[in-house]
Amino acid sequence: MFQVSEERPFYGPRFLKSKRWSPPKGTKFNYRIRVSLEKINQALKSVKYPGFSRDIVSFGIVRDVAFEDGKASVSIAITTSDANIPPAIRDSVEEALNALPEVNEVDVSVVLSGGKKPSQTAGVAPTEGIPGVKHVIAVSSGKGGVGKSTFAVNLACAFQQILAQEGKKAGIMDCDIYGPSVPLMLGLSGRPYVEGESLIPMEGHNLSVMSMGFLVDEDTPVVWRGPMVMKTIQQFSQNVKWGDLELLVVDLPPGTGDAQLSLVQTIPLSGAVLVTTPQPAATQVAKRGARMLEKTNVKILGVAENMSYLEAPDGSRQNIFGEGGGTQTATDLNTEFLGQIPLDKSIREGGDAGTPIVLSKPESEAAKVFVSIANSLLAKVRA
Ligand SMILES: Nc1ncnc2c1ncn2[C@@H]1O[C@H](COP(=O)(O)OP(=O)(O)O)[C@@H](O)[C@H]1O
Ligand SMILES: [Mg+2]
Repeated sequence: MFQVSEERPFYGPRFLKSKRWSPPKGTKFNYRIRVSLEKINQALKSVKYPGFSRDIVSFGIVRDVAFEDGKASVSIAITTSDANIPPAIRDSVEEALNALPEVNEVDVSVVLSGGKKPSQTAGVAPTEGIPGVKHVIAVSSGKGGVGKSTFAVNLACAFQQILAQEGKKAGIMDCDIYGPSVPLMLGLSGRPYVEGESLIPMEGHNLSVMSMGFLVDEDTPVVWRGPMVMKTIQQFSQNVKWGDLELLVVDLPPGTGDAQLSLVQTIPLSGAVLVTTPQPAATQVAKRGARMLEKTNVKILGVAENMSYLEAPDGSRQNIFGEGGGTQTATDLNTEFLGQIPLDKSIREGGDAGTPIVLSKPESEAAKVFVSIANSLLAKVRA
């Protein structure tokens, strides 16, 4: 068996790319294998990672490729909390390789990092990492000031409204260690109770809430370095008694730094929502955020645009911050555009007063958009 591995590097796709390689002289047999492996590698490059425009080879998830007696064996290793992804990749790889005339048989093994076989994880809740929590949706943005926390808080309230009808509950975890604003937006202050090793989340508007804002003094400059950030995140996912939550919204720190990267790797996410503003230039920033999520195989559930327009008393809409950024980002990332949240004074006031607009003005356009986005996201994570 000629394997692409450390022990048998000779016939590996990576090795074949190197200019110094030439087939051993006079060995027709090896040459045939080389051609086939090259074709197999090409075919693998045509397989896209589900939900992304990138292929599985450039994603770096193809670990081993072998070809012998017409049988192609491919081993793939991925990190994902989405149980649909391993079988989807396996099917696409099988299809792509079966299309090659040289290939009579295909054997694809998909291993989730941590050594679990996909068949074992298929029935496991995607968020086994946070005890009691079923789905975790992260709210992410490429930069600060796009209204990410406002979006996260209102989205969480919209989820809570929907889930309350099913007798279920939502929560919000504020991981923005640099500027935790969730407590203020939900009218919460003080410190959470500690029970043994565990923190008890605070309750605001029927949401379970945990925030760095509860744990650090307002006027203490927060100079968290990498390891401390990681520790906090781990504590928030492992040592908080969330109770039974159908859905947890996570407000990620802005940007795409290492802290954020390690965060999305620590918390098993059902997916992420990207918040952007309407300026066409914002798409670049949003896409940087998306690349960070791609690196960790986090599924992008959709793009939402905030501060989209200001409605004049006569009903006309002014595009204060330009237009098209949200739809463009969604198109570029090959994901759904979830909706536009208008600029509304009540949104800012609601945030400052501790009662998000979803609750204070449920009849407003903004509140309706939040509820509609929450409904589509819920359908997506439950699908
Ligand atoms: N759609 C909106 N209309 C009016 N004000 C908004 C809107 N979205 C956010 N804001 C305000 O903008 C400011 C920044 O929002 P915030 O959610 O803290 O941003 P981020 O978390 O991205 O830094 C807050 O004062 C908030 O109330
Ligand atoms: Mg914020």
